[in-house]
Amino acid sequence: MIETMSVRVIVREAGVSDSPTDLALLDDGERARAERKRQATPFVTGHALVRRVLGELLDRDPATLVFERRCTTCDSVKHGKPHLVDTPGWHFSLSYTPDVAVVAVAQGVEVGVDVEDLTDADFEGFAGATLARDEAPGFADLTGHDLLVARARVWARKEAVLKATGHGLVVDPSEVLVSGPLEPPALVDWRADEPRPSAISIADVALPAGDHRAAVAALTAEPLEVVVGPSVR
Ligand SMILES: CC(C)(COP(=O)(O)OP(=O)(O)OC[C@H]1O[C@@H](n2cnc3c(N)ncnc32)[C@H](O)[C@@H]1OP(=O)(O)O)[C@@H](O)C(=O)NCCC(=O)NCCS
Repeated sequence: MIETMSVRVIVREAGVSDSPTDLALLDDGERARAERKRQATPFVTGHALVRRVLGELLDRDPATLVFERRCTTCDSVKHGKPHLVDTPGWHFSLSYTPDVAVVAVAQGVEVGVDVEDLTDADFEGFAGATLARDEAPGFADLTGHDLLVARARVWARKEAVLKATGHGLVVDPSEVLVSGPLEPPALVDWRADEPRPSAISIADVALPAGDHRAAVAALTAEPLEVVVGPSVR
């Protein structure tokens, strides 16, 4: 019998809300960043969620966790993909909208998560901004709500890939081709100058928030086992 291995990705979401308890979990640097945000609440909810989920998984006090960022493109430590300082092997990714924050955690592989509000996919130039020309036919027969769901799903897959690799939108999402909105998630082609990741798996994430779509990606050839936990609040 051939045993299929899978990589477990733990996903937790939280509804954005103003919470002194969340704020109290953040360190000075995070609080300073929150103060500079036009909308601080989603940032605070998201970063508190990261701390809660990692604190729970590592059995550590969430407020004592220390993070660093490093940019894949320019090596700066002032921006880029965040990681835990003293806990090698644990990887996480954060994404948030004005209403929802989502965190994904994986052990031993880089992971990326992205959550998209359907209303943000409701603009005329979506295809030009995000799709390769040969991806457009996958959307041709879709209209209304179905079209927005399809756009948000594909956009979340692409951004999850670019957050797993750490490139972010330095790589043009139209150069990262993923399967069509009605097909199982997969990386189809990588046309960016930056090196293609040696392996990547993608999974859609079912969220309770029906007006959002989310996806995770991890740098592995194994299929992903996505474990969506209870809402953390
Ligand atoms: C990463 C990025 C795709 C996030 O997009 P977004 O839709 O605005 O935001 P999301 O809510 O999905 O994710 C934000 C979180 O992603 C994480 N993140 C930031 N940069 C990241 C990167 N390069 N790779 C993976 N994750 C990253 C952070 O946790 C960030 O939260 P924070 O800003 O509150 O710390 C986008 O901000 C980006 O492309 N940044 C890179 C720009 C850059 O690096 N420019 C300079 C290159 S020298």
